[in-house]
Amino acid sequence: MTEQQIKQEILKLAKEHDALILAHNYQRDEIQDIADVTGDSLALSIAASKTDKKVIVFCGVHFMAESAAVLAPDKIVLLPDQGAGCPMADMVTPEALQAMREEYPDAPVVAYVNTSAETKALSDICCTSANAVKVVNSLPDKEVILIPDRNLGNYIASHVDKTCHLWPGFCPVHDQLHLKQIQACREEHPDAVCLAHPECPPEVLEVVDHILSTGGMLEYVRNSSEKKFIIATERGILCQLRKDNPDKEFFFPEYEFICEDMKKITLEQLLTCLQTMQPQITVPEEISTAARRSLERMLAIPR
Ligand code: 13P
Ligand code: SF4
Repeated sequence: MTEQQIKQEILKLAKEHDALILAHNYQRDEIQDIADVTGDSLALSIAASKTDKKVIVFCGVHFMAESAAVLAPDKIVLLPDQGAGCPMADMVTPEALQAMREEYPDAPVVAYVNTSAETKALSDICCTSANAVKVVNSLPDKEVILIPDRNLGNYIASHVDKTCHLWPGFCPVHDQLHLKQIQACREEHPDAVCLAHPECPPEVLEVVDHILSTGGMLEYVRNSSEKKFIIATERGILCQLRKDNPDKEFFFPEYEFICEDMKKITLEQLLTCLQTMQPQITVPEEISTAARRSLERMLAIPR
């Protein structure tokens, strides 16, 4: 089958199964091209919670498909490659989280959506990189536990007037970016606006112009009158950046900014997934009910 035939078959099957195809901004270009909705974690969670389609095909990583299953319990949720995970989400265990709760009994747990449904179920509220400061400020408490990303945690801590207890997790893709690499890129393109994801290390975030989620970066560039941008996040974002802004230029630091898990889903897999209606992602009811409470508390906060 040619790529064109595969795409046609995917669209035909999606229609037959009444399926909505969601793709994260880091997915392969051809997957983003064929999706009904592309976006950051927050936008995709909202799309999953609002759709009236029967099936959600989530082109992203496991925690994202789990969130869709939690928010839309009456839908069939498919993740074309079940092996697409997020190493950072795996850095929290229920036992260690319980121990941290006992250490700080007055601090509610704010879970970045890059966590398993089980972890969300043990947390008080979720956040994404697009709304983290708003979520933490919405809480009346003077102290909070922020899991699992220490870099996002540090960023939040510097923007809120609360004591923040940080979990020592990190994203292996963003955390390895060196200050030297971003500085070299800035020296090479001194007239470019520099945007970074909050999962980058604090010393990198200190020298950039704006710290944004992937959806926030896309919005910023669309609305900006500037023509050149340095982008410090996974390279998949280039697909939407180029589509939205054919007249603008994008530069990346000299760094392998690729999340292998985000690249696992191929067009062939997406087709097989729609042919077999597998692999389905389900979350046990007890976990789902508690995780939904944390996600819905987050979604209730005005954007
Ligand atoms: P966004 O919510 O900003 O898209 O980020 C998700 C993610 O996995 C970043 O590594
Ligand atoms: Fe997880 Fe990092 Fe990949 Fe995002 S980029 S899915 S945080 S490993």
